[in-house]
Order: sequence, then C-alpha cells, then structure tokens
Amino acid sequence: MTLTIGVDVGGTKVAGGVVEADGTVLTTIRRNTPAEDVAGTRDTIVEVAAELAAAYPAAAAVGIGAAGWIDATRSTVLFAPNIAWRDEPLRDYVSDKIGLPVIVENDGNAAAWAEFRYGAAHDADDSMVMFTIGTGVGGAIVLGGELVRGTNGIAAELGHMGLVPGGHLCGCGRLGCIEQYASGNALVRFARAGARQEPHRAQRLLGLAGGDPDRVNGPMVTAAAQEGDEVAREAFAQLGTWLGMGLADMVQVLDPQVLVVGGGVVDAGELLMGPTRESYRESLAQRGRWPVADLRVAKLGNGAGLVGAADLARRR
Ligand code: BGC
Ligand code: NA
Ligand code: ZN
Repeated sequence: MTLTIGVDVGGTKVAGGVVEADGTVLTTIRRNTPAEDVAGTRDTIVEVAAELAAAYPAAAAVGIGAAGWIDATRSTVLFAPNIAWRDEPLRDYVSDKIGLPVIVENDGNAAAWAEFRYGAAHDADDSMVMFTIGTGVGGAIVLGGELVRGTNGIAAELGHMGLVPGGHLCGCGRLGCIEQYASGNALVRFARAGARQEPHRAQRLLGLAGGDPDRVNGPMVTAAAQEGDEVAREAFAQLGTWLGMGLADMVQVLDPQVLVVGGGVVDAGELLMGPTRESYRESLAQRGRWPVADLRVAKLGNGAGLVGAADLARRR
C-alpha cells in the first residue's frame, strides 16, 4: 500500500500527515505560519514534509494543498488573496529539498477530494461541489469523478464569485466577493459590528473579548453563539444566508449530486447550517420544486486538506 505525505497550507497554519491509500492518517504535525512571511512559510512546509519523510521512508510522494491559485501544471502558486504568495514555485522548491515527487493543489480542491473519496460525499460517484469556510472561502467542483481545474488551473475559485455589487473589498482586488460575506473573517466582522452597535445583545461575546469588540475572534463567536449570545448567532445566520445563495447558484450551474460545506466554521453545527439550508432552499429558482443536490456537512474536519493532497500525490 503506497504511503504518501499530505501538507495543508492555510492562512495561519501548516498541517502535514502521512496517509495510507484508504485515507487512514498515520501521523500528523502542525505548525503556525506567518502569512506575510513567504520564506518562512516555504521553509515550514519543507520542515514538515522532511520530518514526515524521515519518519516514514516508504512515503513515495508529497501533495501540498495551498490556499491560492495554482497553475495548470500544479507547480506554482500564482496568487493568494490571504498569503503573500506571488508566482511562488513551490513544487520545485520542496521537491529539490526533500528529494520526492511533489504536486501542488489548491487547498479547497484537496479538501474536497478527500470528502469525495472518503468523507461526506463518498457515496457520490460523479459530481460534487464544496465550499470550505475558513480564513477565506475555498471551492471545488468534481465532475465525472474528477476535479475540475480549468484551462489555467484556477477553476472553482468559488470564493471569488461576485455576490454583492459594490460590496466589501476582497483580497483578490474585486468588490463584493462571496469570500467577504461567508468566510471566517466575515463572521468576525459581522460579530464585531453587531457588538459595537448593540452591546446589550452581545454580552457573552463581549465578556469573552474583555469588553472590546475589536478583540472578538472566530472561536469566541462560536462559543458565544453556543451559549445563546444573540449577536453571535446573528453573525452565523448572516454567513449562512450568503452561503446559501452561493450554493443555490452552483446548483443552477452544475446540478451536482452532492453539495458539501466544510472548514472550521462548520463546528458551529446548526447555528450555521440551519440558516444556510433555509437560504439555500429559498434561493433556488422555483424554491427547489425539482429534486436538487443534498446539502451535507464535511466529515473529515481539519484533516481533509492533507488527506486529499496525499491522495492526489498518490495519483499524480
Ligand atoms: C483563495 C483560494 C483558497 C481559499 C481557501 C481563497 O481566498 O482564493 O485559492 O482555496 O481562499 O483557503
Ligand atoms: Na478550488
Ligand atoms: Zn475575491
């Protein structure tokens, strides 16, 4: 059974693991990365992969899931809205240091591939669309059992679909992308604004943030919402409403078998998925009078990206 290494590189952390062909993760490592520090991020990826390769000499290849736009040869990160990568030749850099074949895949694609093969959509044999909600909004499309990468490698950047004309400025340079309304960063922005405007309805949230709306972070919003904080709950409802609209659009475009929502924010469970499902239903043309894709929550949690990247490296 071929072992491969998967490394997931997000806006704040690098997570690596050694993975078996059936998706079993044998060991994992996590490191923080400063998103502005390209060299530091690069070296952290190499360190993580080298440590795993040393521990499992049988590992045959490395797959890197990276939070950016990857070229068609899966070697260079062309651009990343939330990391300082610009034309970063990640594949060759890592491959030269580690001495193993490397592929670079978009992080949303990698996570979706894991959910399609082993997770929430493992029963689907043809098509799936996934949104991953983290620092940014990732996306992936599987059609005919394969990831859709597009002509230049940057298909399925679902987070940068235009949602709100003239809306909030996105890291990609556009205004009003869904990433600005349905990401973890957006959740925090909604919650801070609510706490500033209506502090009496945000007492739990403000309690966690030491009374300062600017100190509110994502885990605080989740914790406060779970304890019934109204502003925190509304922040999730806003996120879900926007996300539901994006999901419905994907159904109108592709009519996939399954829709999946993943990323750290789904830990909030029904606080997020309730409003998301409602908005999804209401946003569909004819309000879903026809059968439409089942909307599911990702199953593999944090590990999805590295598991998917490892499998894609195995199939390189
Ligand atoms: C980037 C994507 C990435 C997503 C999640 C977006 O801002 O454009 O490439 O997949 O964030 O990390
Ligand atoms: Na993608
Ligand atoms: Zn954007």
